[in-house]
Amino acid sequence: MRQSNSTQRFQTHHGSGMSGNFTDTISRPFLKSPARSCIVFSFIFVLLLVGALAWTRFLETTVIPGDSAEKPLQTAKTSNANPPQSSQIQKKPSKQIEIPLNCSAYNLTRSCPSSYPTSFDSEVDPDPPYPSTCPEYFRWIHEDLRPWAHTGITRGMVERAKRTANFRLVILKGKAYVETFEKGFQTRDVFTLWGILQLLRRYPGKMPDLEMMFDCVDWPVVLKSQHSGPNATTPPPLFRYCGNDATLDIVFPDWSYWGWAEINIKPWEHLLKDLKEGNKRKKWLDREPYAYWKGNPTVAETRQDLLKCNVSDKEDWNARLFAQDWAKESQEGYKQSDLASQCIHRYKIYIEGSAWSVSEKYILACDSVSLIVKPHYYDFFMRGLNPVQHYWPIREDDKCRSIKFAVDWGNIHKQKAQNIGKAASEFIQEDIKMDNVYDYMFHLLIAYAKLLRFKPSRSRDAVELCTESMACEAEALAKKFMIDSLVKGPSSTIPCTMPPPYDPPSFHATLRRKENSLKQVESWEKYYWENRNKS
Ligand SMILES: *[C@@H]1O[C@H](CO)[C@@H](O)[C@H](O)[C@H]1NC(C)=O
Ligand SMILES: *[C@@H]1O[C@H](CO)[C@@H](O)[C@H](O)[C@H]1NC(C)=O
Ligand SMILES: *[C@@H]1O[C@H](CO)[C@@H](O)[C@H](O)[C@H]1NC(C)=O
Ligand SMILES: *[C@@H]1O[C@H](CO)[C@@H](O)[C@H](O)[C@H]1NC(C)=O
Repeated sequence: MRQSNSTQRFQTHHGSGMSGNFTDTISRPFLKSPARSCIVFSFIFVLLLVGALAWTRFLETTVIPGDSAEKPLQTAKTSNANPPQSSQIQKKPSKQIEIPLNCSAYNLTRSCPSSYPTSFDSEVDPDPPYPSTCPEYFRWIHEDLRPWAHTGITRGMVERAKRTANFRLVILKGKAYVETFEKGFQTRDVFTLWGILQLLRRYPGKMPDLEMMFDCVDWPVVLKSQHSGPNATTPPPLFRYCGNDATLDIVFPDWSYWGWAEINIKPWEHLLKDLKEGNKRKKWLDREPYAYWKGNPTVAETRQDLLKCNVSDKEDWNARLFAQDWAKESQEGYKQSDLASQCIHRYKIYIEGSAWSVSEKYILACDSVSLIVKPHYYDFFMRGLNPVQHYWPIREDDKCRSIKFAVDWGNIHKQKAQNIGKAASEFIQEDIKMDNVYDYMFHLLIAYAKLLRFKPSRSRDAVELCTESMACEAEALAKKFMIDSLVKGPSSTIPCTMPPPYDPPSFHATLRRKENSLKQVESWEKYYWENRNKS
C-alpha cells in the first residue's frame, strides 16, 4: 500500500510568496518505506543547475567504439544556423483549429471521445513557416539517451525501472494509457500526465507508440556506478524531473509547467507573461542593491550555512535572507504567491534544498542577477545555462565572501550585471517558453521510442486517459489550471528541428568553457579579498 501518510508529512509548500523567491518546500525526514525507497519523499524542490556536472557520463560513454546510433556529427556549429530566408517566411500564423473540451458530452458516456484528429494535418497551413532550430539545451537529449544507444531498450530494462516508478505510461496510436503503481506526491503525477496528454493534442499522429516508466520523487536513483564496468547491466530507463552527474535518470519537464495547485502557482504559459509584465514595474537600477533569498532553511545544511551570511550588527555581506513561514502562508492560501511582483532586488540567490527546485526558473526570470550557489542537480533546461552569461556562480564552501564580492562587483559593473539579468530572463522567456517545453518532450519521446526493441502494449491494469477524463473530473484549482493550460487544438506549426548530438570535441569544449568561467570568477574573487585584506 501506499504509504500515503508518509507523503503527507511533507509540509510542502512553496512559497511563493515572497519576494521573490520562491521557495521550496520542504520536507523533512526522509521517510523510507521498505518497499520503495523512493517513497522517501521529501521533496521539494530545489534544484539546480548543472552544467559541468555531466561530463563523467560523457567520458564514459564516448569511449565506446562504434557509436553508430549517435554518430558524432561535425555540425556543432549548425545548431544556431537558421535556414535561410526564415525571416521572410515568418508570416501570419495560420488559422488554428480549436477543439474545445466538451464535458457534457463526456458526462453522458464517461468515455474518452474518439473525435480528436488522429493526424497532424499539414493542410492546416498550406505555407508553414520554416521550422526553427530548437534551443541548444535540446542536445542533452542525445546525452541522456546515450546509455542505450548501442543496446536499444528492451522490455526487461523497462520492467526493471518499475522498482521506484509511480506510473507506467503507454502511448498506442496517439492514445494514452496509464498504469499507476503509487500515487505521486500532491498533484505532481496528475499534472505530469496532463502535460503529456496536451502534447498528444498538440501533435496528433506524430507521437510514436511507447511505454515509459516515470518516477515523481525528487531524487534521481539510477546510479551510474551500478551500471558501469565490464559486466554491468544496462541501466533501466526511468523518467523523472531531475538528475545529477552520478545518475542516469532521464530528465523530463516537471509538473509546474501545467500548474501547481497546492501552492497556487499557475500554468507556466500565463505565469511567464505575468513575469514579463512584472519586470517592468521596477527597473534594475531602482531595485534594492542586495542579494535576496527567502526559503525554508531546514531542508538542507547548505541553507543553514547560507543564513550565516545574513546582515547583522557586525557584518554586512550584502545579503538579505529570510526564512519562510510555511504554516502562515498555507493558512493564507498562498495569496502572496504573486511571483511577478517579487522582482525587487538586483540580486537573487538560488540555493538547492534537497534536490533541484522548481523555483529556479522564477528566480532567473526576474531581470535580477541570479546568484547560484554551486548546484548539484539539473532539470531538463539547466544545462543550457552558462556562468557569467546567465548567472553569477557562488561558491558553496565560502558563501558569504562569495556573495559579498558578487554584489560589490555588480554594483560597480552595473551594465554588465544588468546584462546577466537580462540574458537569464530572455533565456527563460524564449528558450523555455511553452512551445519549447512541448518540443523538448516531443523530441525526447521520439528519440526514446526509437530505441525500443519491443512492441509497446497495454497491460490489463492500464486505463485509458484523456483530456476529458482528467479535466471533467478534476475539481477546484486543479480543474482551473487544466482548463487554463489546455492545448486548444493541433499545432499549426511543426516542432522545432532537433540539433545534432555534440561531437566529443565540441562537447568537451562546452564543458571547458563553463569550467573556465567558474575559475575566472573564483580568481576575481580571490584577488578582491586579497586586496581588501591588505587595505
Ligand atoms: C460532469 O460531471 C461532473 C461530475 O459528475 C460535474 O461536476 C460536472 O459539472 C459535469 N459537467 C457538465 C458540463 O455537465
Ligand atoms: C457538447 O456535446 C453535446 C452532447 O454531445 C452537444 O450537444 C454539444 O453541442 C457539444 N457542445 C459543444 C460546444 O461542442
Ligand atoms: C566479469 O565476468 C567475468 C566472467 O564471468 C569475471 O571473470 C569477472 O571477474 C567479472 N568482472 C567483474 C568486474 O565483475
Ligand atoms: C536577516 O536579517 C534581517 C534584518 O536584520 C532580519 O529581518 C531577518 O529576520 C534575518 N533573517 C533570518 C533568517 O534570521
